[in-house]
Amino acid sequence: MYKLSSEPLLNAQQIDRRLESLAQELKACNFDVILSALTGSYIFTADLSRRIATPKLRIAFIKASSYGESDKPNAKVHISGLESLDIKGKRVLLIDDILDTGNTMKSLVEALADYKPASITTCVLLNKESRRVVDFHADFVGFDIEDKFVVGYGLDYANDYRTFPEVWALEEA
Ligand code: IMP
Ligand code: MG
Repeated sequence: MYKLSSEPLLNAQQIDRRLESLAQELKACNFDVILSALTGSYIFTADLSRRIATPKLRIAFIKASSYGESDKPNAKVHISGLESLDIKGKRVLLIDDILDTGNTMKSLVEALADYKPASITTCVLLNKESRRVVDFHADFVGFDIEDKFVVGYGLDYANDYRTFPEVWALEEA
């Protein structure tokens, strides 16, 4: 059994502040499209994109799910939504909630390259560097965190806790 940590790992104000500075950096990059990996990044994407807020910036979504032994290198990642993407020649900002083993982001970047974007830049809210099993580093990171399973602000445990405004650690009860 699991329970939430007694305090949030990141409260709403900390997230707000970090997103503000991240958005200023990202704004300067003039991306054409934000491509968000559902479902975990839905809140991060909404909060970040409305801070970038440039007229021509488009939003698109893709879904990535890992299956099999997800903590092993080359774990299989199923990607859906690629067929309807319009990213040829575009500067893409790829957003996910968390970078853990790195399998998901690495697979996404590789799959997107086939669609010939002008560039792919990656951004994650959270980075668990110590969990990495493939060689992948995001270009932009909101927060580096320890190896803890976290929920809230879009992230789930078996689909629970997603709507919490803060990021919490799950601990053994
Ligand atoms: P990776 O492929 O191992 O890097 O994992 C990426 C995906 O696993 C993320 O997009 C999340 O959906 C999920 N994930 C990894 N760590 C956590 C966590 O601590 N909480 C919730 N989901 C997580
Ligand atoms: Mg995910």
